[in-house]
Amino acid sequence: MTVIETRAVPVEAFDLSQAQEYVTVATNEFLSGLPDPLRLGMAGRRGIIARYAAVLEGNFIYWMTGAYLSAKTGEARAIIVENLRDEIADCHPGMMRRFAIAAHATPTEEDTAVVSDDLGSVRIFVGRLSSVQMLLMMAFFEGLIQRFMPYLADLAMRQGSDDMEYTDVHGVCDIAHTAGLFRALDAEASASPVDVWNDPYEGVHLLKTLLETIVHGAGRVLSSAVR
Ligand SMILES: [Fe+2]
Repeated sequence: MTVIETRAVPVEAFDLSQAQEYVTVATNEFLSGLPDPLRLGMAGRRGIIARYAAVLEGNFIYWMTGAYLSAKTGEARAIIVENLRDEIADCHPGMMRRFAIAAHATPTEEDTAVVSDDLGSVRIFVGRLSSVQMLLMMAFFEGLIQRFMPYLADLAMRQGSDDMEYTDVHGVCDIAHTAGLFRALDAEASASPVDVWNDPYEGVHLLKTLLETIVHGAGRVLSSAVR
């Protein structure tokens, strides 16, 4: 497995293709750590879907709204608004909820407790409204989710579900969303560069940690240097 290092990137060295490569490596690390569905029992499958739903249903639009509020350029804001429009007009939180119910994985109090600390860290980060860091986090997330959908659908099918609207939609629309967010990032990086002392990938690290907790639960073992 390739291990990438946490590092601060000076403003003058920020490069879009390097950023895309960085989030691709982080995504590959996350995907390579997914447990084999064949070795997960019903409780293991249920837990992953439930924790994913506990985080995504109520937070994705909130995070994307944070990206909108942080953006300084009209170009970035227009791209983010299109993304939000899809989320709200097509009621993605409702899709998420139906997906979890059909897989017998409605989140419980315990599921929300397991993700609470890492979700809180992401919320505090989002509250700082730092546009380049936010857009890096959301571009990372959209690209990762699109590649994660076949795995999530597989878990749901093994749970006896036939409601795949959520995974079908996000396996397709997030390709365009990811490309759009990288264009938004490019616009923001020129207009509002990250302070030289800040790690532009802080949100990527925090979100990757949260996603690893979703997948591995309370017994998550940190498997990489990306955090
Ligand atoms: Fe969505």
